[in-house]
Amino acid sequence: MTAACHTIPFALIDPAVHPDPDACDAWRDLRGTHPVAWCEADGDRPGFWVITRYQDIAAVYRDTARLSSEQGNMLGTLLTGGDPAGGRMLVVTDPPRHSAVRKVLQGAFSARAMAQIADGVRAATKGLVAAVVDAGGGDFVADVAAQIPLMAICELLDVPPADRTLMLDLTMAAMGEDGTPEAAEAAADAQEDILLYYAGLLPGRREFPGEDVVSLLANGEAGGTPLSDAEVLLNCYNIIIGGDETTRLSSAGAVLALIEHPEQWRRLRQDEGLLDSAVEEVLRWTTPVTHLGRTATTDLTLRGCDIKAGDIVTLWNTSANRDEAVFADPYRFDLARTPNRHLTLGHGPHFCLGGPLARVELRVMLEELRHQVGGLELAGPVERIRSSFLTGVSRLPVRCTAAG
Ligand code: HEM
Repeated sequence: MTAACHTIPFALIDPAVHPDPDACDAWRDLRGTHPVAWCEADGDRPGFWVITRYQDIAAVYRDTARLSSEQGNMLGTLLTGGDPAGGRMLVVTDPPRHSAVRKVLQGAFSARAMAQIADGVRAATKGLVAAVVDAGGGDFVADVAAQIPLMAICELLDVPPADRTLMLDLTMAAMGEDGTPEAAEAAADAQEDILLYYAGLLPGRREFPGEDVVSLLANGEAGGTPLSDAEVLLNCYNIIIGGDETTRLSSAGAVLALIEHPEQWRRLRQDEGLLDSAVEEVLRWTTPVTHLGRTATTDLTLRGCDIKAGDIVTLWNTSANRDEAVFADPYRFDLARTPNRHLTLGHGPHFCLGGPLARVELRVMLEELRHQVGGLELAGPVERIRSSFLTGVSRLPVRCTAAG
């Protein structure tokens, strides 16, 4: 670290005090005066770089040669010794292997595949929103937002209907994060059970392949050789962890934003033409993935700061998506915002593979809200998740009336 580079306290990214992205003066200050800052080491925990400007973050995303994902892409894992799936799970694999494996998976997210999944997503969303409207309200997270993403992922992986409740329970347990050792142990057990479950599907998908993700991976080749079983299973897991909680947080965050901005809710109800830009603004506004991490493979200089080979570099989407150099009036929730090149789904070679699915789910949800809901308001305290990697709400009590 060069002496000239600004040092920041760890508290800025501690989950306990992780600031609300809508009101984060600290990110604005860093963007303005210290766009590349250093968070000091503490005891066994190494220090790391904190990058906050949109253009710098986008450049780092693209620079996979000098900034690797293989040691992990979340600060939590990078600070505790790295990701054991590095080099085997897509999101923590560098090119050229990354590009070859991504090609195997790409077909599962084609426009045709998305159109098929959209029908199921629409039927499920319609029913769930109708149930909430009939009841006069409910917890939008539990009753709607939590149900759709995993259902869609089960479609992608062609999980038999009889096993879907099991998959939902295991995924909830695998994501459990309340900071206790018991929760960590239960989460590790559930993660192992998920891998074992997919291992059980492999022989059948090799014998009778379909167009689902498990079949594509189980029969796919990268660099002229079949993927190993470990790669197949870890990439199934990547789809689940990549696509479940993120999309849930965006959907629930969309409803909260519409409640907090009633004039935008009225606009959306009046103007169907806003749906495309509304989806992008919801993604920008909610930014469920707060940051991504990389590791420098070589010494490099960024805005006068010397980053050494081996240093951890963190990219704060939370800040990039409010960068006033890129977004006009960035702290305004504006469903008509265009252009809107947010970094919510990442950028460059690792750009979110499930982006088309996340967009389908959000669009269908906004459509169903427009069709079915009239009045929409909070019915109790909102609860937020506690994490430095993901941000959003875990409980959203709403009261609503049917569209007139
Ligand atoms: C990659 C965010 C939905 C699967 C990423 C990355 C981000 C992201 C930021 C880049 C990671 C990096 O550069 O290290 C989100 C958000 C979502 C969402 C905010 C919802 C709003 C989904 C869905 C799926 C999915 C629905 C699948 C069903 C993946 C996969 C990758 C990825 C497989 C790795 C791509 C690669 O490394 O080439 N996502 N994601 N995501 N996402 Fe998503």
